[in-house]
Amino acid sequence: MLIFTAAALARLPRGKLSEPKERTNGIMDIIAKLAAVRIVPVLVAESVEAGVAVCDRLCEGGLPAAEITFRTAAAEEVIREASRRHPEMTIGAGTVLNTADLHRAIDAGASFAVAPGCNPKVVAEAQRIGFPFVPGICTPSEIEMALDLGVKLLKFFPAEASGGVAMLKSLAAPYRHLGIRFMPTGGIKPANAEAYLAVPEVAAIGGTWLNAGDPETIREAAEIAKRCSK
Ligand code: 3PG
Repeated sequence: MLIFTAAALARLPRGKLSEPKERTNGIMDIIAKLAAVRIVPVLVAESVEAGVAVCDRLCEGGLPAAEITFRTAAAEEVIREASRRHPEMTIGAGTVLNTADLHRAIDAGASFAVAPGCNPKVVAEAQRIGFPFVPGICTPSEIEMALDLGVKLLKFFPAEASGGVAMLKSLAAPYRHLGIRFMPTGGIKPANAEAYLAVPEVAAIGGTWLNAGDPETIREAAEIAKRCSK
């Protein structure tokens, strides 16, 4: 049983913290939501207006999800505003590199957070507060470290540069019986998206190719997602 002191309680973030029972299910709910949408656009928003406008177009185009990366100053506000305008959207924070970023993501209203690598401190903090966190891996040793930390959904990054679909299949095979899921990103485009989505362990794929928010590109991605729906 977890017992919080008054000081520890005061440090808990203000955002979407769930009840203890829901916390256990949080990552499974996010896996289910990402597996339903199948493609998670990775956004690098240069301004709040531009980032929110892309989220509007993603929802209009039938792709109601985004990983909004903490690579720009606008990210937090994009998460906040897009979550307000589109409650149907599954919105995550990306490039979450430390526990301060994690708390910024929660405060802004993100439903999950993603990182390019696996920082055990961030994993532990996310688990302490019951917030879904998806760390990045690209080797068997990193997968085993993440498994040891209790991670259920892993970002395979950088997917193409690490060996692409063939590498992912080889990486997934020894851990298949454990039921872990992957979200590959890095070099994924319409031309290779379906090959990744055909790997049974892949919940969803992500990429910045949708960052410009071009309606035709979104429509094409939404069609791929539909064709590859689980
Ligand atoms: C990420 O953070 O997931 C990557 O920047 C996405 O890679 P891409 O730009 O090759 O799509």
